[in-house]
Amino acid sequence: MKAVLEVRNLHFRYADGTPALNGIDFTLAEGETVALLGANGSGKTTFLMHLNGLLTGEGSIQVCGMAMEKPNLRAIRAKIGMVFQDSESQLFMPTVLDDVMFGPLNQGRSAAEAAKRGRAALETVGMAHAAGRAPYHLSAGEKKRVAIAGILAMDPEILVLDEPTTFLDPPGQRALADLLVRLPQAKILVTHDARFAQALSHRAVFFQSGKIVAEGSVEELARRFAWDLEMEGAR
Ligand SMILES: Nc1ncnc2c1ncn2[C@@H]1O[C@H](COP(=O)(O)OP(=O)(O)OP(=O)(O)O)[C@@H](O)[C@H]1O
Ligand SMILES: [Mg+2]
Repeated sequence: MKAVLEVRNLHFRYADGTPALNGIDFTLAEGETVALLGANGSGKTTFLMHLNGLLTGEGSIQVCGMAMEKPNLRAIRAKIGMVFQDSESQLFMPTVLDDVMFGPLNQGRSAAEAAKRGRAALETVGMAHAAGRAPYHLSAGEKKRVAIAGILAMDPEILVLDEPTTFLDPPGQRALADLLVRLPQAKILVTHDARFAQALSHRAVFFQSGKIVAEGSVEELARRFAWDLEMEGAR
């Protein structure tokens, strides 16, 4: 199967000397969903920030066949859409529609095309009715959906979601899982919620001290690392 993301021997140290990534090898296939599990501080978010060039470590990263190099950054960012935990900070325009048009406009699309893409993306996430509302007033679950729509409007091949269930109540989490499972893009899902991961992922990897120390099904890894499926799911 075609790989949409290939990471080889990635190392990164923060400016204060903290070693955060210590040799990550990771491949994501077209249409595949992989859960990134691991303790707080194990390097998951740091890893994600390398995938669209927000951070630059040593090693190699290829996104849809493009090397992570400055001339490719714009094209890479169109292929890989990131939704961070605090998706609120990704919404900054006066209306929801303006927000989801921002990406396509930034890609150089016309206003009409951006609006068309934005509306279609809002439709996909079930937020078309909120196009004229102020993002600021939306609920956490609605904000998450709009942030995802903003990414979808750019027509990415990979979706990266860092702890997307944070701030969502159980029905909101289920609704998000139902939405994500319908989206055809390859996905990287960082979550502490093993049940959510299990519902969505084809496989999982486990981060420890900036390394991937195990790979398998969510169930296997949850058992091996005592990631309690019942407790996490019952939150
Ligand atoms: N800006 C920073 N400067 C220095 N060290 C940092 C910075 N951001 C993160 N770190 C450190 O890098 C390591 C990896 O952090 P990271 O945020 O990637 O972990 P994580 O797996 O995403 O954790 P969590 O599950 O808590 O979100 C930790 O030791 C953390 O303290
Ligand atoms: Mg994190």
